[in-house]
Formats: sequence, structure tokens, C-alpha cells
Amino acid sequence: MLGADSADVVPTTGGGGVSRETPPPPVVVPAVAADVFGPHLVQAERYAALLGTDGVVRGLIGPREVPRLWERHLLNSAALRHVVPEATHVVDIGSGAGLPGIPLALARPDLRVTLVEPLERRYHFLREAVAALDLADRCHVVRARAEELAGELAAPVVTARAVAALDKLAGWALPLTSTDGAVLAIKGRTAAQEIETAWPTLRRWGVPEEPEVLTCPSGIDGEDLVVVRVLRGTGPLRTSTQAGRGRQPRQAKAAGRGASRTGGRRGRGGGAARG
Ligand SMILES: C[S@@+](CC[C@H](N)C(=O)[O-])C[C@H]1O[C@@H](n2cnc3c(N)ncnc32)[C@H](O)[C@@H]1O
Repeated sequence: MLGADSADVVPTTGGGGVSRETPPPPVVVPAVAADVFGPHLVQAERYAALLGTDGVVRGLIGPREVPRLWERHLLNSAALRHVVPEATHVVDIGSGAGLPGIPLALARPDLRVTLVEPLERRYHFLREAVAALDLADRCHVVRARAEELAGELAAPVVTARAVAALDKLAGWALPLTSTDGAVLAIKGRTAAQEIETAWPTLRRWGVPEEPEVLTCPSGIDGEDLVVVRVLRGTGPLRTSTQAGRGRQPRQAKAAGRGASRTGGRRGRGGGAARG
């Protein structure tokens, strides 16, 4: 279906509609989406339609994001697939309308994904989206602030996009990261600066190496994903969130397949669909 005329993009209908009087503009699906989502392309299209209709009506997505849902949100989020190990469990904190967790789950059917979101409206949207996309067997939605889950939930990979500055985010995410796992924080041009600011704190907490900046191809020019990878290490964590909590997380493999390291300060990360 996609790329039938060897064109770069293929217009499809938006699915559903916000209003009968003013039908939504056609959603344009980049041809690369077929490679990224493979057999789950139809679900990805359904998710894009959900974001562009319900997501806008319910205030989770700004209307101006609708024309660039694929480039800035779905494909950008799915680029994380390059740095997540095989068949693992991912906790996505501050998932909002499901970014990056839902596109990642659609692009990587081998993953189990837990979407953590404290706000009621977003939590309900996530539950409905997971059901509508037939993801309920491997995606779970938890309504909580990340810091409330320390000692209760842990996974080899913890992701976050547009949730907090790296030092604050790491304080929430590291206690949810299994021993030897990694936090993957989607950042933009600020990545190197955020590492510089956060590193003294991270080192005090027991993070063994300075975080690295990875660039993950999204398949769209100018929309590659900039990810800060913070390795959890194997030693004890000393964040205030972790202090006094008992559970020892599971063993995990370090992330890394297909992305390139950059030491640079350039690149675009995904901003939130709506703050
Ligand atoms: C700017 S939005 C980003 C949403 C989504 N990740 C995206 O990129 O579109 C930030 C999200 O983080 C959530 N959030 C804020 N503080 C949090 C915390 N302590 N634990 C988990 N989520 C949190 C908010 O409710 C909100 O949904």
C-alpha cells in the first residue's frame, strides 16, 4: 500500500474525525513508516489517527502537531528501537499520550512496555489507546509518579521524553532501572549541557561512567533522535529516592544496537507533543 507510486509520502484518511463540519486534513504517512513498523503499520496509523483526533480534543496534543505527527512523534519515538536490547522490558516514564512508549512497542514487537503516567486524563487516554491498538498483552499502563514506584517496579531499560532535566529525571529513573540496565533519555541540543550539569550528581549516586550521547536514525532527514544513555552500573545506588527502599532489581544486558555515538551538542530530540 505505502509507496505505491514510489512517492515519498502517501496520503491516508485521518480515521474518525473531530467534527463533521470541518473534517481533519489528510494524515500523510512517510513511506519509511512501512519499514519501521512492518506488520504493525496499520496499528501505527491507528495511533496517529487517535492522536490527531481524540488526542487533540482531549488536550494531549497541540493542533499544530497534527501535520507532523509522524515525523516529530511516531518515527522519532520509534528511533529508540536502535538502542533497546532484544526481548526486554521497558518502563516509559511520563508517557503523556504514549510517547515514546507506544511507537517503540509497535516498532519492536519483542518488547514489553510499561507506560507510567500520573495525570488522570492522560492515564485514561493511554489505557484506551493500548486497548484500541491491541497492545494489552505486552503494554501496561500505571498511574503513578515515577518516584512513587521505586522498589516496586524495575526494568532493564527506562525511557523518558520531555519529562525533566537529566539530573532530576535520573533521580526518578535510576531507581526503576535494573542492575546493569540503562536510562534512555530523549534530549535535543541540550544533551551535552545536561550531561555536564548532571554528571557530578550522577557520580555521587554511583553511576559508573559519564553518560553518552547516541544519535538514532529516524528515517526522516533532520529528525534523528538524540538520546542520553545513563548506565545504571552494578553497584548500589545512592539517590534519595532509592534510600531506604529494599528491592534488588533484576539483572539486564546493556543497551546498544545500531545507533551512533556522538560527542557533539547538535541534533534534535523529540519535544513533548504538548507540555
Ligand atoms: C511534557 S510531557 C511529555 C509527555 C510525553 N513523554 C511526550 O514526549 O509527549 C511530561 C509528562 O511527564 C509527566 N510527569 C511529570 N512528572 C512526572 C513524574 N514525577 N513521574 C512520572 N511522570 C511525570 C507529566 O504528567 C506529563 O505527561
